[in-house]
Amino acid sequence: MKTLRSTPLRLSVLLIAVFTLFMSVGLAMAFWVMRDALAADITLRAEQVIEDLRAIPEPEERLERAHEIISAADPRAMLLRLTIGNQTVGSVPDLPEGINDADATALPEPVADSYLVRRADLAPGALMVAVGRDSVAELSETFVAILGFALLPALMLTSAIGIVVVRRTSARVEAIRGTLHTLAGGTLTARVGSPHPDTDLGDISRDLDRMAEAQESATGALRQIGADIAHDLKTPIQRLAVRLEALGDTNLPEDARDQLDQARTETAQIIDTFQSLLQIAQLEGGQGRDTFGPVDLGALVADMAEIYDASAEDAGIHLTHALNRPLPVTGDRNLLSRLIANLIENALRHAAGTDIHLAVIGRTLIVRDGGAGIPADQRDVVLRRLARLEASRSTPGSGLGLAMVKAIADLHGAALALGDASPGLEVRIAFPD
Ligand SMILES: Nc1ncnc2c1ncn2[C@@H]1O[C@H](COP(=O)(O)OP(=O)(O)OP(=O)(O)O)[C@@H](O)[C@H]1O
Ligand SMILES: [Mg+2]
Repeated sequence: MKTLRSTPLRLSVLLIAVFTLFMSVGLAMAFWVMRDALAADITLRAEQVIEDLRAIPEPEERLERAHEIISAADPRAMLLRLTIGNQTVGSVPDLPEGINDADATALPEPVADSYLVRRADLAPGALMVAVGRDSVAELSETFVAILGFALLPALMLTSAIGIVVVRRTSARVEAIRGTLHTLAGGTLTARVGSPHPDTDLGDISRDLDRMAEAQESATGALRQIGADIAHDLKTPIQRLAVRLEALGDTNLPEDARDQLDQARTETAQIIDTFQSLLQIAQLEGGQGRDTFGPVDLGALVADMAEIYDASAEDAGIHLTHALNRPLPVTGDRNLLSRLIANLIENALRHAAGTDIHLAVIGRTLIVRDGGAGIPADQRDVVLRRLARLEASRSTPGSGLGLAMVKAIADLHGAALALGDASPGLEVRIAFPD
């Protein structure tokens, strides 16, 4: 189907169709014109003989002239019979009676395939002239030969060239399209790459690569700024935490201690946020991929269900899991635990009081709850860093859990989809084969 949509293919087919149409129409017109000219010439020749003999009044001379004509003519080109009284010149077998003058008729060997027959009453004498129509048949054969030896090979050649052109351009278009898809999927390192010939598609490939290059360095710079800020602030904030800790060891009035405790919680939250921001930036930069190995997704999900079973029980909810022919995936076990943990914690926090179900089907991981879910138009938004829905403002958290899930899924080349568990949120992560 994809090939049928190819512009070069459509153009080639159109060109070949136009070429065939013009050649066929041209050949047909040439054929009709030449056939008419030949037919007119044949009629003229018959009439000339009739006029020639009619012009001789003397019967003897007329018979003699008829004899001359017939002995000079090739029987395939002309036959003649002149009867005056009881004398006959010419040895033409009697042509079937009732033939219209304009008609052709078939005669036995060794004569031509068909003749144009003309009869004339010369008073005295009855004349019959038959002019061979072989040249018309030969004309048809010539045109069939032109068709076979010129048109068909030309068509085959143009089709072959068309196929080569279509193959080459489709490969280039496919390379460009593939690169665009990969770039759109967030992998900014993708390039068309192959040597670009000096064509319009080559120009597009070069421009696309240049654009991707600029995009990659711009994104890299932005990411670097974010990471630098997080990194530079992390140390002073950690120092602040240490100082607050030290302050706690001193003698403080009760209300100052309350304030201090709150300040310590806030600081811990800030450190967490910075750490998560840094880790997401590192994951987006591809860090961690070199330690990938086979991970038993089924066993991992069973472990995570067990770890969270106690807190689920405390919250009075059921945390169940089901494994349907689980397959191993390639990845980092710690990161994948983090991903599952984030999703379970989200369910515990944002779908409080509803049961949680984990499942693995082949290489697809599913986490489902029975809460309010996430409206379809917000499903892209919540994957961004620091994004939280209005309904969750009162819950603790910094809006980095799902951004981390997305970064881990991307690092593993897995497709992440948020859906509706009606009611509730269903998160699906499909790992590649
Ligand atoms: N299971 C869920 N049901 C309903 N809403 C959800 C669910 N999971 C996430 N959300 C919404 O998506 C937002 C972003 O989730 P995310 O995990 O990124 O941040 P968070 O849970 O608020 O904070 P953090 O995970 O950083 O502690 C949440 O604030 C919440 O509004
Ligand atoms: Mg979360």
